[in-house]
Amino acid sequence: MAETRFLGDYSPWPFRLKLTRLRFDLRPRGTLVRSELHLERRGPGPLVLDGGAGLRTRALTIDGAPVNPAHVRQGAETLTIAHAALPDRPFVLGAEVEIDPEANTALEGLYLSGGIFCTQCEAEGFRHITWYPDRPDVMAPFHVTIRSDQPVILSNGNPVASGRGWAEWHDPWSKPSYLFALVAGDLRAVSDSFTTMSGRKVALNVWVRPADLDRAGFAMESLKKSMRWDETAYGREYDLDVFNIVAVDDFNMGAMENKGLNIFNSKLVLASPDTATDADYERIEAVIAHEYFHNWTGNRITCRDWFQLCLKEGLTVFRDQQFTSDMRSAAVKRIEDVVTLRARQFREDAGPLAHPPRPDRYEEINNFYTATVYEKGAEVIGMLRRLVGDEGYRTALDLYFDRHDGQACTIEDWLKVFEDATGRDLAQFKRWYTDAGTPKLTLAEEWDEDAGRLTLRLSQSTAPTPGQPDKPPRVIPVAVGLISPNGDEVMPTRVLELTQPEQEWSFEDLGARPVVSLLRGFSAPVTVDRRIGRAERAILVAHDTDPFARWEAGHDLALESLVAMAQGGESDPALGHAWGGLLADSSLDPAFVALCLRLPPEDEIAATIATQGGVPDPDAIHRAREALAAE
Ligand code: SER
Ligand code: ZN
Repeated sequence: MAETRFLGDYSPWPFRLKLTRLRFDLRPRGTLVRSELHLERRGPGPLVLDGGAGLRTRALTIDGAPVNPAHVRQGAETLTIAHAALPDRPFVLGAEVEIDPEANTALEGLYLSGGIFCTQCEAEGFRHITWYPDRPDVMAPFHVTIRSDQPVILSNGNPVASGRGWAEWHDPWSKPSYLFALVAGDLRAVSDSFTTMSGRKVALNVWVRPADLDRAGFAMESLKKSMRWDETAYGREYDLDVFNIVAVDDFNMGAMENKGLNIFNSKLVLASPDTATDADYERIEAVIAHEYFHNWTGNRITCRDWFQLCLKEGLTVFRDQQFTSDMRSAAVKRIEDVVTLRARQFREDAGPLAHPPRPDRYEEINNFYTATVYEKGAEVIGMLRRLVGDEGYRTALDLYFDRHDGQACTIEDWLKVFEDATGRDLAQFKRWYTDAGTPKLTLAEEWDEDAGRLTLRLSQSTAPTPGQPDKPPRVIPVAVGLISPNGDEVMPTRVLELTQPEQEWSFEDLGARPVVSLLRGFSAPVTVDRRIGRAERAILVAHDTDPFARWEAGHDLALESLVAMAQGGESDPALGHAWGGLLADSSLDPAFVALCLRLPPEDEIAATIATQGGVPDPDAIHRAREALAAE
C-alpha cells in the first residue's frame, strides 16, 4: 500500500537550487547521466533527493570530492546526505548514475519509443533519470549536454551548440524537473517561424518520423494560431528562440508541455485529409493549443505541489476551450464540453472516486489526472469569470501573471489575485475547489397573473461524498432569461447568485407568463430539477437566444419523446415543429443545427427510463430511436 500524502504536510525544501547541469551519454541499455546541482542552504536539515530503483549510482561528490559513504543513506525512493557532510557556503552536488531506457516500459523518465529516445517527467518521472529534488516548487535554469549517435538531439530552451553526435541546450527560465525533456532520434521537421508581438522571431518545428512528414502540417498551423491567440486574448508572448513539438508513438498522456519542447502522442499531431475526421482536426488543434498555453499557465507559473494540479490544468483547459470557441463555433464547443462533463465528471462525482478539484490527500498522483481536476477545474474558472465579469477576469489574470511569474503557486494565491483585483470576497466560492460532489439546483416558479409577477425560488443541495458528509451551500451563478409565449425575450440574461440553501427572486411587469430559460450557457456544473411542460420546452427550442439552453430544451424534448416511444407511446408533434423551425432558420450556424438534431444516444434513453423506475428494453429503445430519426 502506498503512503498517503497530505496537503497539510507541505513544507518548503531547505535548499535553493540555482542551476542544474546535466550530461547524458545516450545508449539504449546503459545511459550515463551526470548531474551537477548548484545548491545553497536555506534552512536546517539533511539533503534529501528523490530517485528510483532503476538508478545505478556510480559516483556522488560535493564540490568535486567524493561524499563520505558514512554520511549517505539510500532508501527505496530517496537518497539522504547528512547535514554534517554539507558545507554552509554554496556547493555543487555531483552525481553519476546509469539507467536503462530500453527496459523502461513504464514510460516515465527516459525511455525508447520506436527507436526514439524520449522522456515523460510529469508528475514524478524525473526521479527515474537521476537523484533530484523532484517536486514542482524547486525550480532552476537547466544546462544540458547530450551525446548520442541519433541525428536529431533536442532538449528544453535554446540550442547553444551542436556537432556530430552531440548537442548542448540551455533553458534560462527556471523550471521544475517535471518540465524537463530530452528527445533524440531519426526525425524530420515541418519548419516555420513566428514573429511575436514585440517583433522577436521564433523558429518553429514539428518533428515526426520521416514517413509522417506529410501529415504534420496541420499541427504547425494550429501552433501558429495558438501563439497569436495567446497574445491577443491574454497578452502572453512566447519567451524562447525556438519552439519544438515532437510526435512519438508510445506516450502515456495525450501530450506534455515541457518547456520549449512539447512531446505528443502522435495521434494528436498527425492528420491527413484521407484519414482524419473533422473531430480529429478539432482535437489536434485544441491539444496543440493546450500544451502551448501551458507555457504561461503551468510553466512560467507552476504549482507549489501536486495537490494544486488544477491550478495549471483547470486554467489551461479553460483557455483551450476559449481558443476553440474563437476558432470555431462557440455554441457547439460549449454544448460538446457540457456533454463530456456530464458523461465523465458528473459520473466521477457520483461514485466512490469523487474528489474535489483540489484534493487534500493522495496515494498516487498519477491517478489524479481526472475529469474533476481538468474539466471541472475549468468550469470553476468559468464561474469565477461570470461572477467577476469579463473585465474583472482580465484584470485578475494580468495581476496573476505580474505577481506570480516565476513562482510555484497554490489555489489560495489564485483566489487572492481575484480578490485583490476585484474586491470580491471569495471565501464561499473556494468550496468549489475543496468540496467534491455535483450540487443539485431546484427551481420552483410562482406566477401571479394579476400582478404580472413571476417568482423564482432556487434551492441547492449536494449529496455527501466519500469523506465529506456535510456539504455547506456554495455560490452558484445561475444565468437566466425569460421568453414570452410569443417568442420575445422579455428579460435578457441575468446572473442570479445563489449563496444560501434557498433564495427567491421576483420579476415584475410581465404581460404574460414567460418561460424561464434556466442555467444559460451552463453557468454552473450542477444538475437541474425543474418542472417544465412540452409546450414550454418547444418555445425555448424555437426562440431561446441562448444556444446552450436552446439545445438543452430540444434534447430534453427528444429524450422525453424517445422514453415514451420506447414504452409504447407516440412521438411528440411539438418536436417536429420545433426542429422544423431550427432547420428553416438560415441565420443559425449549420454545425449548431446539426448538433440540435442529433438524437440522445440509446444509453441515455435507457438510463432515463431506469431513473423513472421503468425497465429499459434495448430493442424497443433502438426501434424508437430509429423511428424518430426517420420521422
Ligand atoms: N500536463 C499534461 C497536460 O495536461 C498531462 O497530460 O497537458
Ligand atoms: Zn494540461
